[in-house]
Amino acid sequence: MALVTGANKGIGRAVAEGLAARGMTVLIGARDPRQGEDTAAALRADGYDARAVVVDVTSPATVTAAAHTVTTTAGRLDVLVNNAGISGGTPHLPDEADLDVVRQVFDTNLFGVIRVTNAMLPLLRRSSSARIVNISSGTSSMTAMTDPDHYFAGMEASVAYPASKTALNMLTVQYAKRLRPEGILVNAAAPGACATDFTVPYTRATGRTVTRTAAQGGADEFTRRAPSTFATAPPARGGPGRGRQARTMTDREPVEARNLDIYGGGELAWETVRDALVAALPKMETPVFLGTARPDGRPHAAGVGAQWYEGDLYCTSGPGTRKSGDLAANPACTFSIRTPVADVVLEGDARRVTDPAVLEPVAAGYREGGWPAQVDGDALTAPFSAQSAGPPPWHVFRFTFHTVVAVGITEPFGATRWRFA
Ligand SMILES: NC(=O)c1ccc[n+]([C@@H]2O[C@H](COP(=O)([O-])OP(=O)(O)OC[C@H]3O[C@@H](n4cnc5c(N)ncnc54)[C@H](OP(=O)(O)O)[C@@H]3O)[C@@H](O)[C@H]2O)c1
Repeated sequence: MALVTGANKGIGRAVAEGLAARGMTVLIGARDPRQGEDTAAALRADGYDARAVVVDVTSPATVTAAAHTVTTTAGRLDVLVNNAGISGGTPHLPDEADLDVVRQVFDTNLFGVIRVTNAMLPLLRRSSSARIVNISSGTSSMTAMTDPDHYFAGMEASVAYPASKTALNMLTVQYAKRLRPEGILVNAAAPGACATDFTVPYTRATGRTVTRTAAQGGADEFTRRAPSTFATAPPARGGPGRGRQARTMTDREPVEARNLDIYGGGELAWETVRDALVAALPKMETPVFLGTARPDGRPHAAGVGAQWYEGDLYCTSGPGTRKSGDLAANPACTFSIRTPVADVVLEGDARRVTDPAVLEPVAAGYREGGWPAQVDGDALTAPFSAQSAGPPPWHVFRFTFHTVVAVGITEPFGATRWRFA
């Protein structure tokens, strides 16, 4: 069950459609009941589960009533997207500030988020994997705004909107700190400039055209940049991540990223590291080390040949080897991989796979990589393998990672840790 505020149009509507397409029941938060119901009806006509709920984020009464509606209908909330926002008009020069307008912008973009979030928190706390995403803006970035080379430098100064979104970012951090111990992830996402009613005054004033659609800002781009919303939302009816549905590494989106750079550098891009990991395997020259724990707790490491299949890493190991024994007793392990851009350590669980529907494509992948593997019963054989694999047949292990740590080995260096649902 997801609630999106300001979902009757623009990016909010696109986010609602994206969540509905992933199998969630979506509550279309709208301050105008008719527009909310029109949007919900349009989603239902597309086969989705959507209902309208009146939410004016500046009105405590509607927010309380909306929380009551969710309580009586669903009893819990899994995803809250605080999307409703206003610009306060463009331009709105600081020295000509209309404080009533500034208050209105902050009441919507900042205080409204507190109002809605706190009203929905009891319902979010009833979810096993609650997520909150606050829709911020690139204009919230003090770095970009003060960078003379950034196109924001050429924009007119504006007193209300950018400051409200910068404050929203900090608010997001504070909620994230407070709620993380409870397992509720809180993130902010900037959808990029999108052609919505919101940007009409901007395009009129500047003569510029915004080409990105709300669907790209609210769905495609958004799922890529703010993965916590979608990747970790419970896939209510067979969405991605449930069962063994076909997926790729691009479906493995982090729910959390942490910049570990101790020299002030920025976060590494997950997409860059992911693409390097995909490109590096199953090349035999790529060093891959599997780290396991022996039953007595002592560590063990061995080089393995590994490859990706449907977003998981696969390797082989003889049944009598140390690592096979370790994994049978304790599937927790690490894979350490050197790629051209970063040294990467993946943490997760590796378990034996015997399903022929998986063994066949894994064997085919090895053959493409230069190792002539064939399926033999519930294992693989080949004329040769690494010494560390032991004699054939070799068991196949599927490794599903939950944490990735990358340390850059080329510019811009840096170090980042990502967690996955
Ligand atoms: N478009 C962009 O380029 C862009 C870029 C960065 C960030 N954003 C952010 O993305 C979010 C959505 O923007 P958008 O482009 O989709 O704008 P939009 O098309 O103007 O939609 C804004 C939505 O917010 C709703 N809203 C405004 N005040 C509200 C209130 N007091 N209570 C409840 N709902 C309210 C609007 O409802 P009504 O229809 O009733 O007015 C509408 O549904 C905003 O937070 C915005 O700051 C947009």
